[in-house]
Amino acid sequence: MNKEDAEKAASLTEPKEEFPWLIRISRHFEALSSEIIEGLESTLVKRLGEEYALIKCRNTGRLVASDAAHFVRWNLPMDHAWPCNPQKMEGFIEKAAQTLHEKFSGKGLQGVFVGILDPSARDGYYKALATNLRGRTLQLFEDEAKGFRAVEEQDANKPSLFCMVGKEGLFCGVQSPRDSNGFYPGGTKFISQNAPHTISRAGAKIAEALHYLPLHRPVPPDGGHWLELGACPGGMSSELLERGYEVTAIDRAPLDERLDKHRGLHFIKADVAVFEPSARASFDALLCDMNGETRVALTQVIRLSKNLKPGGLVVFTLKTAGVESYAEINGHFKAAFDQAVTGWLKLVAVTHLTYNRNEFTMFFERREGVEPRQGKGQGPGGHW
Ligand SMILES: C[S@@+](CC[C@H](N)C(=O)[O-])C[C@H]1O[C@@H](n2cnc3c(N)ncnc32)[C@H](O)[C@@H]1O
Repeated sequence: MNKEDAEKAASLTEPKEEFPWLIRISRHFEALSSEIIEGLESTLVKRLGEEYALIKCRNTGRLVASDAAHFVRWNLPMDHAWPCNPQKMEGFIEKAAQTLHEKFSGKGLQGVFVGILDPSARDGYYKALATNLRGRTLQLFEDEAKGFRAVEEQDANKPSLFCMVGKEGLFCGVQSPRDSNGFYPGGTKFISQNAPHTISRAGAKIAEALHYLPLHRPVPPDGGHWLELGACPGGMSSELLERGYEVTAIDRAPLDERLDKHRGLHFIKADVAVFEPSARASFDALLCDMNGETRVALTQVIRLSKNLKPGGLVVFTLKTAGVESYAEINGHFKAAFDQAVTGWLKLVAVTHLTYNRNEFTMFFERREGVEPRQGKGQGPGGHW
């Protein structure tokens, strides 16, 4: 046995430490959850709420950055867990708040946030419980709480205490929003789809993407100019216009007539492949939600990304419809990643947003400097 094999054999027999973690996997990937958990070098302990799983990570103090990572919408190390039925537990809020204060005060937190494990629950009991638990905990943190930040004002890289409550108990951990992959407990920002300007479900995807992006980099500047590929019927265009952005939207099909003559909107009814921006055109961001083959859509994104300003953003919906298995989705993801890197784009983040179905949202920036050699560059890894 050579030295490497001997080390491997020894490591298999050594006792391993295991770290409890809470992860959220969208119900769209429920059928793949065993492979995802195995890919995280973890084992399942218990399913919780609608989309959560309590797992134990082997051999590491953090989740591994593997192909499995981009399937995990949100995650939290378990620094405190109280499995119980809060509805039957007398004085649950007071006991829980006292424990949180005892365990976590003086730890340099920037905030305390409480979410619910089952957001679809109808009766509102746990929503009220989460609000009241947070309120009582903040009272106990007294002066320390005066320096706490609101959820959207958190520093992406500083630790917060996130707590999740539901009929299975209370599950809490300290981690930065960036490492958890969301500013909100559970990762989700509620976005109303009944706003007067809502045109299609796709609008919620870009609204959520713009809440997510500050985990990694600033959103495009106020009044910035977006180039949008595959814009019809106009859900995303409408959200961008609502935020005061200028939008050049391209689609073979027409936009919803509610957007007719909208200030700041320039619509070009054409195939994206024949669209040639003027030599002077320069955009702050490029958004692509085109359906059809990923390779074809990315070819256009890469071509048109040359008209981005330095540091310009690309938001790309990676559609995985028709790609079913864990291995196939990862292969599809890797092909897109390789094409993008070869096309001079740098991956900033990839995630599965609440409003994504069989798709991921990828964020890129246009690289500056010398074009990278084919196949070299960053690894595809996840968001951790
Ligand atoms: C999923 S829909 C986009 C929804 C849109 N983002 C919204 O917010 O409402 C995909 C769109 O891509 C457009 N598309 C696909 N390939 C295209 C191409 N080569 N040129 C122009 N439009 C294209 C389709 O016409 C379709 O309207």
